[in-house]
Amino acid sequence: MSEKQQPYILQTVDLTKSFGRQTAVNMVSLNILPGEFVSIIGPNGAGKTTFFNLITGAFKPDSGIIYFKGRDITKAKEFNRVQMGMARCFQITNVFPHISVLENVRLAVQAKSKHKYRLFINADKLKELTEYAHYCLEIVQLKNMAYQMAISLTHADQRKLEIAIQLASQGELMLLDEPTAGMSAEEVPAIVEVIKDIRKKEQKTIVMVEHKLNMVLSLSDHIAVMNYGMLIAYGSPREIKENQDVQSAYLGRKGDA
Ligand SMILES: Nc1ncnc2c1ncn2[C@@H]1O[C@H](COP(=O)(O)OP(=O)(O)O)[C@@H](O)[C@H]1O
Ligand SMILES: [Mg+2]
Repeated sequence: MSEKQQPYILQTVDLTKSFGRQTAVNMVSLNILPGEFVSIIGPNGAGKTTFFNLITGAFKPDSGIIYFKGRDITKAKEFNRVQMGMARCFQITNVFPHISVLENVRLAVQAKSKHKYRLFINADKLKELTEYAHYCLEIVQLKNMAYQMAISLTHADQRKLEIAIQLASQGELMLLDEPTAGMSAEEVPAIVEVIKDIRKKEQKTIVMVEHKLNMVLSLSDHIAVMNYGMLIAYGSPREIKENQDVQSAYLGRKGDA
């Protein structure tokens, strides 16, 4: 019996992945409740992105188990995980540069609907999909850019578009890997607002990897700290701030705050 009756939306048990001799993710066990906001912090190379890639199914673990909504998905394909309610993790490279911002989001909404493979859909259905796409753009503050070509967006706005596309896939679990990466200090507050707005309006579970500590401390219910592939601490923002191991492994490091 591989199914586990747990309240957790996401659970990893001793998850491990090596690249050659390097163990990128080492025996990581993490339990996340529905609706929680969990951040993962840790130095570069700690294994955070690899951990995400294991959760989405982009990589297969060497050992360990992943449960999503109580079901063992360790061997499930990426596509099936999305069908089960994991938001599709788009990178900007998945965006079509020469169509409008709105069209990019609408395609993502359509990909999730049962009209996925239809070239022609009826006008009512199209209207519904388009309305939902507009709603996603409004949440990420890109409403005014809807009719611009995706390629014309600034880097910061492209990151917002990635979030809109994740929203469009209507997963219960969103995975945000460094949503502020490459942004200037002035652009960060808008992303924080977008994430707060998603939390307020949508019942989503969010797992975020992020280096900006103030942002992590203000948004998170729990914070997981990784170092050398291992989970070295897990707790509330206050507990993490006070944790000595965390301070020596991460918080004191130059350039990470
Ligand atoms: N596809 C890959 N092939 C080989 N090594 C990888 C691959 N992805 C990640 N790694 C290695 O695994 C370790 C963890 O990387 P990563 O998960 O990207 O860390 P983080 O996101 O915390 O910065 C690093 O040493 C990295 O070089
Ligand atoms: Mg990373």
